[in-house]
Amino acid sequence: MTTYNINVTLSTAKKEKPQAEKLQFGKTFTDHMFILDYSVDIGWHDARIIPYQNISLDPASAIFHYGQSVFEGLKAYLTKKEQVLLFRPDQNFKRFNQSNDRLCIPHIDEDLALQALKQLIQVDREWIPKAADTSLYIRPFIISTESYLGVAPSTHYQFIIILSPVGSYYKEGLSPIKISVENEFVRAVAGGTGTAKTGGNYASSLKAQQQSGEKGYSQVLWLDGVERKYIEEVGSMNIFFKIDGEVVTPMINGSILEGITRKSILQLLRYWGVPVTERRISIDEIKQAYVDGKLEEAFGTGTAAVIAPVGELFWNNEKMTINNGQTGEVSQKLYDTLTGIQTGALEDPFGWVV
Ligand code: COI
Repeated sequence: MTTYNINVTLSTAKKEKPQAEKLQFGKTFTDHMFILDYSVDIGWHDARIIPYQNISLDPASAIFHYGQSVFEGLKAYLTKKEQVLLFRPDQNFKRFNQSNDRLCIPHIDEDLALQALKQLIQVDREWIPKAADTSLYIRPFIISTESYLGVAPSTHYQFIIILSPVGSYYKEGLSPIKISVENEFVRAVAGGTGTAKTGGNYASSLKAQQQSGEKGYSQVLWLDGVERKYIEEVGSMNIFFKIDGEVVTPMINGSILEGITRKSILQLLRYWGVPVTERRISIDEIKQAYVDGKLEEAFGTGTAAVIAPVGELFWNNEKMTINNGQTGEVSQKLYDTLTGIQTGALEDPFGWVV
């Protein structure tokens, strides 16, 4: 495998590390960051690890106006033997390039990205938190930096990786969250950018999230943008239901983001022999399953939260309480197994950890 030349400038002033029990999601950043520049004339160049710092951009930079950008999210964990583990990083960089494709951003070299990530984590390894349910969240992203107000793919970009020691994404931790079903706004439609991890998808989700928050809910359950009937995602996560012993999740349909946690959960459930199906699921079907007493569990899945059990669904002025508002057996087992594999506490039969 090629070894790339990455210039390293170490920080002279080390920041104070946060206490593990006070860690929130995405509020603290480590001492260093990785940057790689792109210009249309020379391609990607000047790979470097530098002290964490502000970046200076022309106010006309494309990113500020048209949002041409992509990002990824993954986590690093420290094992009991102080080894650093990454969970399926190849999948993140593969998806990164799929998002790049959709946003007309030039592909990055996935091997270089992984080497840069490993080197950056090595430099900031003391920042990986050790307490239970904590990790080092990794945020690779690309921004368009050409100073030009015409609507066109940028000729200049920066690929940056920053690291953040984190605790639980939701304040509830693994306790079930309450979700309202979104009837007015939609997240994405087939042919749009829903399958890409690009900032605009998240910006356009804020209004629904805000309104749901005002009603006392943590997130929204997104329905499809055409018929407003079929379930797509929950907040910024994929969604699973357990109905009458079978686990179901919406199939990948051109508007749903293909989560790496989603993919891993499908593989785990099949490995355990649990019946699991990817198909269209309507909100009416969920309501009927609830009425029939067959809606056994619901949970969101994503890198940040891993598993977020859903204890209540609110739809058309009615509440559906799932599993008495408690964390279900499958949700708990999936969380324990996945985090066990990710942290090296459990054997990894799939070759996921690096
Ligand atoms: C994830 O959990 O995979 C996410 O994308 C959440 C992130 C936007 C904070």
